[in-house]
Amino acid sequence: MAEQPQLSEEVLFTIKRENLDSGLRGYPVGYCTSSSVDPNKGLFYVGRKVPDLVHWEPEKVIFLLYYGYEGTDQEIKAFKEDLKKRAPLSEKTIQHIRQLPKDGHPMKLFSASLLVLGMIEGKNDYHEDCLNVIAKIPLLGAEVINYHGGFKGKPFDPNLGYMENFANMLGGPSSGSPDLKEALTLFNILHYDHGGGNLSTFIGKGVASGLEDMYGSLAASMCALAGPRHGRANQDCLEFTEKVLNEVGENATNSQIENLIRKRLADNELIFGFGHAVLRVEDPRATILYELAKKKYADKPLVKIALKLKTEGTKVLSENPKISDPFPNVDAISGTILSVSGFPYPEYFTILFGISRCVGIARQIVYERLEARDKKGTPIYRPKYLYKSRESN
Ligand code: MLT
Repeated sequence: MAEQPQLSEEVLFTIKRENLDSGLRGYPVGYCTSSSVDPNKGLFYVGRKVPDLVHWEPEKVIFLLYYGYEGTDQEIKAFKEDLKKRAPLSEKTIQHIRQLPKDGHPMKLFSASLLVLGMIEGKNDYHEDCLNVIAKIPLLGAEVINYHGGFKGKPFDPNLGYMENFANMLGGPSSGSPDLKEALTLFNILHYDHGGGNLSTFIGKGVASGLEDMYGSLAASMCALAGPRHGRANQDCLEFTEKVLNEVGENATNSQIENLIRKRLADNELIFGFGHAVLRVEDPRATILYELAKKKYADKPLVKIALKLKTEGTKVLSENPKISDPFPNVDAISGTILSVSGFPYPEYFTILFGISRCVGIARQIVYERLEARDKKGTPIYRPKYLYKSRESN
């Protein structure tokens, strides 16, 4: 039997009354073999710090997540070929997606399109479906966004890489531009996985524990990702940054931004993009995107405001001892980067998050279904809830 990781004292804690009704915050419930999040060091993919991997090709990072080791050049070449073979969507899938309603948030369309894909192309094999979904998800996402937004992108080109293809297939005025390609690639790599307990991943694994197939489980994950406290935060953060820009103008001073933040807090209004359930430092994914913003887009009005929000927001929120994480998270800047690099459509940002996160969730589902507990798989999720009478509320 494979050696089990050491459980630290901190991990083996007793559940107390105050831990109940707290969204399972911080409870250890299982293992994750693809990634981990350290409160002070941030995100690791298979034990490697994510900032060290952002210049890798996306396929090399996905290989690492999938197989658990760094592939040789030959292995990566073969993996790329395999993904390309698996990538095309059937005509039937495309036709059915184009008949879905466009009402409501486009994440609903994206979740529904995963069910359609599974109905038509699912293999009922977690391993095969995992690789197929990783290969197909950029095409599916581009198809959904283009259909919803009325954009026209280019067709899939087997000579291009994973994200190069996506940047070309995604329509819009900057379709396929080098800036957009760079931003989408970075965004994609940074969002593949974030430990085992983020809401969409947890939900997907839970649904799969009832032996629902890969596509149904991922559709459920994407419904979880759609909420504003989870994946839709990137849309809300960009809209917040735009609102601040409209209110104070691009040349606002730091103290004007500080005053705006203080006023919003006094009026019980949200300051978007700060804090995280696990992190207690600036989200290293955000740091990477702030670096790109400073290097390439420092003169853009949105970036000027986003950078000032970062310093002033951290300063003001740090004054409150009750706020355990006053630092910006990835959503604080990811939407700004997508926007200034040529994709200024916030309603689609959560789909871009989903295209990436399905990679990690699918891999974690493979672990729980086929590898965990000496290959028996985790049993159906069934945590315990204590009965409480309503009068005692
Ligand atoms: C994520 O990337 O999923 C978010 O940062 C939320 C989380 O980790 O809980």
